[in-house]
Amino acid sequence: MSTTWIMVLSCVFLAAGAAALVAAWLVGRRAGIELATAANDRHQLLERLAAGLAHELKNPLGALNLNLQLLEEELTASGALPDESADRLHVISSECRHLEEVLDNFLRYARKRTLVLEEVSINRIVEEVLTFLRPETSRVGIEVRTHFQEMLPTSTADVALLKQALMNVVLNAIDAMPDGGSLTVRTLALQGEVSVAFADTGAGVTPAARPHIFEAYFSTRKGGMGLGLAITRRILEAHGGSAVLDNPPGGGCTVTVTLPGLPRSE
Ligand SMILES: Nc1ncnc2c1ncn2[C@@H]1O[C@H](COP(=O)(O)OP(=O)(O)O)[C@@H](O)[C@H]1O
Ligand SMILES: [Mg+2]
Repeated sequence: MSTTWIMVLSCVFLAAGAAALVAAWLVGRRAGIELATAANDRHQLLERLAAGLAHELKNPLGALNLNLQLLEEELTASGALPDESADRLHVISSECRHLEEVLDNFLRYARKRTLVLEEVSINRIVEEVLTFLRPETSRVGIEVRTHFQEMLPTSTADVALLKQALMNVVLNAIDAMPDGGSLTVRTLALQGEVSVAFADTGAGVTPAARPHIFEAYFSTRKGGMGLGLAITRRILEAHGGSAVLDNPPGGGCTVTVTLPGLPRSE
């Protein structure tokens, strides 16, 4: 079983590496918030460094996981895998997958991407995101209502990224209404901008949590990674837009994303 132990040790080293890079980045991030500009530069540098490290860790981690699975299959086939060892291999394999997920999410947040821009209809993009998530909203009993403004100006956007940004918002609304509710989605054009408001009937955000919800790695959800809204805001800002959250007086939560609209060609 010495191969197994090599795997185990490799996992431990990779886990320690991944934890160290996230910790280093978090420390840098706190410093960046507290110490304005100079620290802000350091924060960006650390983020770039952590992204490089995360990228380097991803491939060996994937290879490790694959080899673990092959090892398990070989040992099972040769009858040399006692139940206890099989359980251990499962634990290692699921921790590897968790680490891969952590790294993937961090890279999605930190990666500087060149936007692939095209002229888009926001109504259509929103419709596609809602259709994609319909099985999930239906499963938890969420009624989705849409009020799409007709003749909405088009925008320029990276479709894949914009969908990801909107999907994070809808996924949060789903998380906020585990026993069902309603999600009202409204598109609107105002002063050259196009906005989409997602209003849910969940529990809303507590005053203590509210200043932090767009921060990376802030989550009040069990098992939440805390990157969804940070990614959404980054994507919107890269498009020259914004993302804000309100707690309307009637309860629930409204997240509004705004993008520059294109002037209408006559
Ligand atoms: N629709 C919502 N209703 C209530 N709270 C929300 C909503 N959307 C976001 N939040 C709050 O913002 C936090 C951060 O959200 P997010 O960045 O997507 O991370 P995660 O979903 O992993 O917790 C959530 O943990 C929750 O506290
Ligand atoms: Mg989320």
